[in-house]
Amino acid sequence: MTRVRFGFIGAGFMGKAHSQACRALKACFPDFPVQVELTTIAAASAATAEAAAERFGFASFERDWRDVIARDDVDAVSVLVANRFHHEIVLAAAAAGKHILCEKPMAMSVVEAEEMTAAAERADVRTMLCFNYRRTPAVLYAQELLASGAFGQPYAFRGVYLQDWLADPGIASNWRLRQDLAGSGTLGDITSHVIDFAQFLLGDIERVNGLMRTWVGERPAPDGDGRVKVDVDDEVMCLLEFANGAIGSIQATRFAPGRKNFLGFEVNCEGGSLIFDYERMNELWISRGHAGTQGFERVVIGPDHPYGKRFWPIPGIGVGFHEIKMIEIHDFVRSVATGENARPDFADGVQNQRVLHALEVSAATGSWQRVPS
Ligand SMILES: NC(=O)c1ccc[n+]([C@@H]2O[C@H](COP(=O)([O-])OP(=O)(O)OC[C@H]3O[C@@H](n4cnc5c(N)ncnc54)[C@H](O)[C@@H]3O)[C@@H](O)[C@H]2O)c1
Repeated sequence: MTRVRFGFIGAGFMGKAHSQACRALKACFPDFPVQVELTTIAAASAATAEAAAERFGFASFERDWRDVIARDDVDAVSVLVANRFHHEIVLAAAAAGKHILCEKPMAMSVVEAEEMTAAAERADVRTMLCFNYRRTPAVLYAQELLASGAFGQPYAFRGVYLQDWLADPGIASNWRLRQDLAGSGTLGDITSHVIDFAQFLLGDIERVNGLMRTWVGERPAPDGDGRVKVDVDDEVMCLLEFANGAIGSIQATRFAPGRKNFLGFEVNCEGGSLIFDYERMNELWISRGHAGTQGFERVVIGPDHPYGKRFWPIPGIGVGFHEIKMIEIHDFVRSVATGENARPDFADGVQNQRVLHALEVSAATGSWQRVPS
């Protein structure tokens, strides 16, 4: 396949991020033999879709997402809407033989995620889940170091995702605070990214024990008329056991005043440690040896690290969210062209969804839960 023609469903935050990544791809991957085209887009209304088509650079727009999927000149569909709609759209896209790039969390439940995976397998289409943070060059480098065995047996993973955009109880409700549209709160929205880090860096999670809390039980309605109930979690804290013998913990919250997008991990191994903090995403902190006598070395990420030569010529200039979305689009399009799924694919998404579910059950019952595989 020498070109991939995209149909987008959704024109919000992720519609903007995905379309700009597609548009910039050629500049950074000039030797990439596949042409990416922005063919059409649908949103909640025709007017929104039309405005997005103009703003994001699509050749056309559609009034309904089903019309995007029905088009013969669309090869791949990007699913960029609230979580509630992922399942229905993915089943329809697979039935129409479209390759699928789907935002996270994959679905509202494990059953939905499994049905999506089965539909894509039946249709033999490529799939990818947008756990984009694992494509940060510093994180890719950390994964390479751990996979090389240079650090020996991993002992512990400590993951965090701390934000503060809901800490003010006066912030109005939105779809992320509604169980019927989001499935869960902090759990699916941001804990899922840390689970992806954990699985990417250390492999399968076998058992979990979690706590979940809702700190603000009702908020102003989005239209300013009265107040509405918040029926999702605001904070998640949990313990993990990995199949490789390591143990771990995760804290994720949107109620940590002062924290903006503090997504990070520390991995302690038999032969050293690694620290990553997304708010300083162009650095990886490394300690080598048993006792780390020199403390941590700050490695400034640049051309010598994964995908580094694609972007800027010297270390320290730095990449951001835009560049990691470009890597994601590149890897997905390459998978469509080669016929091999890029990870994380839908099977990885199911495993992520199983951890989310196990955490919910654990928090509700106060017990350890095994994660099936
Ligand atoms: N990977 C990441 O880092 C990341 C970041 C933010 C959001 N997300 C995920 O991306 C998805 C979308 O989130 P967002 O922040 O872009 O949301 P958003 O609220 O900014 O945008 C949602 C879009 O969906 C459109 N929409 C609503 N109903 C529709 C329908 N029936 N048909 C077609 N379009 C419809 C709206 O017009 C809007 O353009 C969610 O699953 C979210 O969890 C991922």
